[in-house]
Amino acid sequence: MKGVLRAFFATILIGLVHAQAPFVAGWERVGREPFAGAVLVSELGCTACHVSEQKAFLSKPGPDLSEVGARVNGAHLRRFLASPSGVKPGTTMPDVLAHLPEAQREDVANALAHYLATLGRPKPSELPQPEAVERGRKLYHSVGCVACHSPEKSLSGSVPLGPLAEKYTVASLAAFLERPLDIRPSGRMPDGQLERTEATDLASYLLREQKTPPPAFSPDPSLAARGKALFAEYRCQACHRAEAPLGSPVLTAFSKLRGGEGCLSDQRGAWPHYPLAENQRAALRAVLSEDARLWTPAEEVQLTLTQLNCVACHQRDGLGGVPADRHEYFTGKDENLGDQGRLPPTLTGVGAKLKARWLHEVIANGASARPYLNTRMPKFGSANAGPLVARLKAVDTLPPAVFTRVGESGRPRQVGRDLVGSKGFNCIACHTFREKSAGAIQALDLMTMTERLEENWFHRYLEQPERFSPLTIMPGFWPDGKSPLTNVLGGDSGQQRDALWQYLEQGPDASEPAGLVLEPLVITVKDEAVIIRRAFPGIGKRGIGVGYPGGINLSFDAEQMRLASLWTGGFIEASGIWRGQGAGEARILGRDAVKFPSGPAFAVLAQPDQVWPVPDPTPRPRTVSFQGYILDDRQRPTFRYLVDGFAVEDFFVERPNAGRPRLERTLRFPQAPPAGLYFRVAANTSIEPRGVNEFAIGRSLVVRLSGPGTVRGVGDAKELLLPATGGELKLEYHFIAQP
Ligand code: HEC
Ligand code: HEC
Ligand code: HEC
Ligand code: HEC
Ligand code: HEC
Repeated sequence: MKGVLRAFFATILIGLVHAQAPFVAGWERVGREPFAGAVLVSELGCTACHVSEQKAFLSKPGPDLSEVGARVNGAHLRRFLASPSGVKPGTTMPDVLAHLPEAQREDVANALAHYLATLGRPKPSELPQPEAVERGRKLYHSVGCVACHSPEKSLSGSVPLGPLAEKYTVASLAAFLERPLDIRPSGRMPDGQLERTEATDLASYLLREQKTPPPAFSPDPSLAARGKALFAEYRCQACHRAEAPLGSPVLTAFSKLRGGEGCLSDQRGAWPHYPLAENQRAALRAVLSEDARLWTPAEEVQLTLTQLNCVACHQRDGLGGVPADRHEYFTGKDENLGDQGRLPPTLTGVGAKLKARWLHEVIANGASARPYLNTRMPKFGSANAGPLVARLKAVDTLPPAVFTRVGESGRPRQVGRDLVGSKGFNCIACHTFREKSAGAIQALDLMTMTERLEENWFHRYLEQPERFSPLTIMPGFWPDGKSPLTNVLGGDSGQQRDALWQYLEQGPDASEPAGLVLEPLVITVKDEAVIIRRAFPGIGKRGIGVGYPGGINLSFDAEQMRLASLWTGGFIEASGIWRGQGAGEARILGRDAVKFPSGPAFAVLAQPDQVWPVPDPTPRPRTVSFQGYILDDRQRPTFRYLVDGFAVEDFFVERPNAGRPRLERTLRFPQAPPAGLYFRVAANTSIEPRGVNEFAIGRSLVVRLSGPGTVRGVGDAKELLLPATGGELKLEYHFIAQP
């Protein structure tokens, strides 16, 4: 019985130790020798204290703390320093204070926190806004964060984020996410190429639990002075850059370390404590003797891809790649492209494929050639890209292609143009050309090819695309090396490929190939309304476009039950819908387009100043549901829908008005509306009262209401609300000439 109990408690203990063990992404993914041990050494920073000649062991630097007081809350710092892995399980920062008695540990952590809090001033910040949280949630699950971090439905094998809500404010986290390499130059947390608003949305999502601001923390000068001395005493600057150089004592060199002692033992002492899992400890012990190991350039490449966790998104030579349980978070805009339209490309042989300059642009600055992927190639910065590019170029080679260059007399650029066009190999059926496309498939733009690709690779790839990507839909045009176009350049396949290259190499000077320009499919409206139920910009698949006679048009969102946009002039261009171009959306023609806010148009507010509810990403049938529409004798629809069980009939009719047409809208409620029901007429940065119950929305639209509306501020913007009382609401939308 005793034995059983002991085993039981031992299991719990091991469980606890494992939960706190440092999480090192690459090690979890490709935990095999010699990479496993080496990756642990670099990621846990062993050689920051135990000197080593081994470049592969170069330790990951810790975050730059020079402005940490502006970024991180002081109370969080105190808790984190007293027990790093207790507060953020899985962190790679060791517990440097673990050997101190508890009271002294708290005391040292407190002084350190006071010192760090003097480094930079916190800036004022707002709490997370519901709409921003929703946008952030979408971004987080689509741009690539989930390659390394856990999605909302938690997945093991994820880089921990810790208790962000007590650590950051929306403003400080957004500033970090916008430029993570400034603070964490190691590149382990790469730069996701975020716009400022995207960074704010992501920060709002990550801090969605934050209901009150983290408490203010005012550093005490005398504690701070003591903390500064302790920072040097505990060798924090071994991993965190600081002005003070690292003093003595000189610690045991890496090659002299004894595996059962110090940081690798179970003992507590004047060394950092790493709550290692048993297999991590074993891998570290095994690698102690490898200080003088010579790594081949190919191994160095593999090691770097593991340390920087490129393998979270890319596979190379069969290693890494997006794991099955994260596939759903990698999406694209063009279903016709299959997996190539959603997963990051392979890195097998990429050094022979891409020119050094482009390879550097991609890894350092996230240069992109595949606009149809939702995942972004992050930026890792020049310092991280430089050595990797040189090694990839050295390691990856491809036997030279044999071909005869086409001389001027063979008019290579003219021939190349014919081959690319619809009367030749029709490359434009699948590739865009300067962002224009002729076919349903929109693979990489042909204009990026010669800028990015090595000429040799271009030839070898076109010879046999399936050798490079077995499942590709890119056809081989020269089966068995023979060209089907026997009368072009004598049917010589090498010369035909060279002509393609010479044509594409002209870049901006290359004239468009035949077959590229398609007649646009303009839908015209005559004396009856025209309805198109398809995807519209900003709505998704459940859009309904209505063009009214006289040149006024609207799009209605039959998912959120709202007017989505209004515009005057031409109705839509529909080649995107029927020829599968663009995002498969209708393209709005005309002028003066005004967009209305996403999210529900009706809501019950307990107080008139209550925040408007967030759009429900997947509205449940119970809350809102579309009941279809009925048409009048001029084909004008009356939209019918339920909002929280409450029925609405929504009808628009055009009123001709000397070239500035207007729409009248009637919202009819068959049953009495619930108390506190409001209709959100518009949201815009500019909403100005003009006359009685009349408001100018932006620059070109005036709305006249059947009752008094209220304008209220929401962040930088304004909202116009109309209480929904009585049996119906009437609105008029007038377009005015712009000043
Ligand atoms: C912040 C500095 C620091 C870091 C980082 C650090 N150590 Fe240590 N380590 C020490 C100190 C201090 C000692 C005790 C003095 C000594 O042995 O030089 C020590 C001792 C050791 C010893 C025992 C030395 C002996 O043979 O008696 C081993 C083994 C060891 N460390 C391994 C590691 C490993 C593995 C890592 C990375 C996971 C690591 N250390 C990270 C500071 C550090
Ligand atoms: C290639 C893997 C990778 C990707 C992709 C990635 N991260 Fe990270 N992230 C990391 C690692 C590793 C760390 C810890 C870095 C360190 O130890 O210095 C980190 C740290 C962070 C932190 C800091 C946590 C703290 O305790 O302060 C935040 C916040 C964060 N990531 C958010 C994001 C967001 C949002 C995205 C998407 C835009 C993203 N990450 C994409 C690997 C990644
Ligand atoms: C072996 C290297 C190492 C040592 C020694 C070390 N740190 Fe760290 N520290 C790190 C790493 C790595 C992180 C990032 C951890 C994470 O995000 O999970 C970190 C994070 C931090 C942070 C959070 C910074 C931010 O912007 O999120 C603070 C503050 C900090 N360390 C302070 C200290 C202090 C004070 C000491 C000395 C008592 C110390 N560190 C010793 C490696 C180290
Ligand atoms: C979050 C996922 C993610 C991570 C992590 C990532 N990449 Fe990428 N990478 C992508 C995506 C997506 C693309 C395609 C970008 C495009 O062309 O628009 C890409 C493209 C590339 C390309 C261009 C390949 C080609 O054939 O055009 C190279 C090279 C590359 N990545 C290298 C790396 C390296 C090296 C690392 C690690 C330092 C890395 N990537 C980490 C997502 C990622
Ligand atoms: C049936 C559709 C289709 C046609 C026709 C087609 N391609 Fe492709 N091509 C693709 C797809 C899809 C890819 C992306 C393949 C991948 O990622 O594996 C591709 C990839 C390529 C690449 C490699 C680009 C890179 O950076 O990875 C080159 C070069 C290329 N095509 C050139 C051409 C040329 C030149 C023609 C005409 C002679 C042509 N393609 C015709 C579908 C097509």
